[in-house]
Amino acid sequence: MTKRVTATINIGALINNCNEIQSLAEHSNILAMVKADAYGHGACDVAKALEPVVAGFGVATLEEAEALRRSGVESSIVLLEGFNFPHELAIAKELKLDVVVHQMKQLELLLETSCTDIPRIWLKLDTGMHRLGFSLLEWPTVFEKLEQSDFSQPIVVMSHLACADEPNHPQNKNQIRSFLASVEHLPFPKSLANSAAILSDSNLHFDWVRPGIMLYGVSPFDSKPLSPLFTPVMSLTASVIALRDLPAGETIGYGANYQCDKPRRIATVSIGYGDGYPRAAETGTPCMINGVRCSLVGRVSMDMVTVDVSDLDCVELGDQVELWGRNVRIEEVAKHCNMIAYELLTGLTGRVSYQYVRHSVRE
Ligand SMILES: Cc1ncc(COP(=O)(O)O)c(C=O)c1O
Repeated sequence: MTKRVTATINIGALINNCNEIQSLAEHSNILAMVKADAYGHGACDVAKALEPVVAGFGVATLEEAEALRRSGVESSIVLLEGFNFPHELAIAKELKLDVVVHQMKQLELLLETSCTDIPRIWLKLDTGMHRLGFSLLEWPTVFEKLEQSDFSQPIVVMSHLACADEPNHPQNKNQIRSFLASVEHLPFPKSLANSAAILSDSNLHFDWVRPGIMLYGVSPFDSKPLSPLFTPVMSLTASVIALRDLPAGETIGYGANYQCDKPRRIATVSIGYGDGYPRAAETGTPCMINGVRCSLVGRVSMDMVTVDVSDLDCVELGDQVELWGRNVRIEEVAKHCNMIAYELLTGLTGRVSYQYVRHSVRE
């Protein structure tokens, strides 16, 4: 059966991107973010491919960690939101997970139990994002409690920047100042940088970097592309399933909100919001058919989009359409949808078929 929509994941590009990150942050361990199914790329396949070149993986939920362990991942897995209840801590121990501890309740739960099955804890400081983390006031108490206990597992201290993707935002300076003042004197490895921070300031690399989006070859910045040394890992394709020639004045799709200003050739393509291609994609959103950039016209429907192929010399039923990938950057598509690339990648649905290839990035 022909696949309607395929996400082709290039493991060669993934490993290349990871090596590029390692050469940017030479002295840091890489904690590869594979939460949300590795940003829609398939967490188990991505983690298995990266396991030889990274120091560990970051996940948001116990279920995500469990799936990685079940698929045979043996490296460190960090549970970024930690645990809230004793039974969750018990599962984390069983799975030998590193846990982020970000509030007193968790620390107390942890210290009530024997911790030898937790390979490492990541103490999270809230330096200003105000989402997770101990407050600056609570921070000294955390270490007093640990000192008074018989806790002896390795510790990493971490925080997260709210505006790393806007390197000149004053919030960064404030958060970095608070982080340094609170952790500089501590004898523990430190971690602060997501993709944007890795790219903008090598002083923020510390002992562990935590790249997500850049691993997948996508820029974390709104209007600054990644260096060409990075390659998009995912290519999302669908097929031309119908072709028609329309005279000027005819409208296309739901709401009849696109009207042909002149005679146009229209291809109907087998992807829609039921596959995760956003309904917000406006007329003019780019795609590529047979090496030619074309534009979406009319509304995205559940299973189909319509594309103006008037400028193509040759287009046939079954031709493949790149919705995003190496030729049509997802960052550009996201802009046309008033969304961010993270949302597009993590929004793909179970209808999409995945295919893993290992092509050299120079091909
Ligand atoms: C704590 C933490 N670190 C690192 C990352 C990776 O961020 P990015 O994908 O922007 O590199 C995330 C992602 O949300 C995160 O929550």
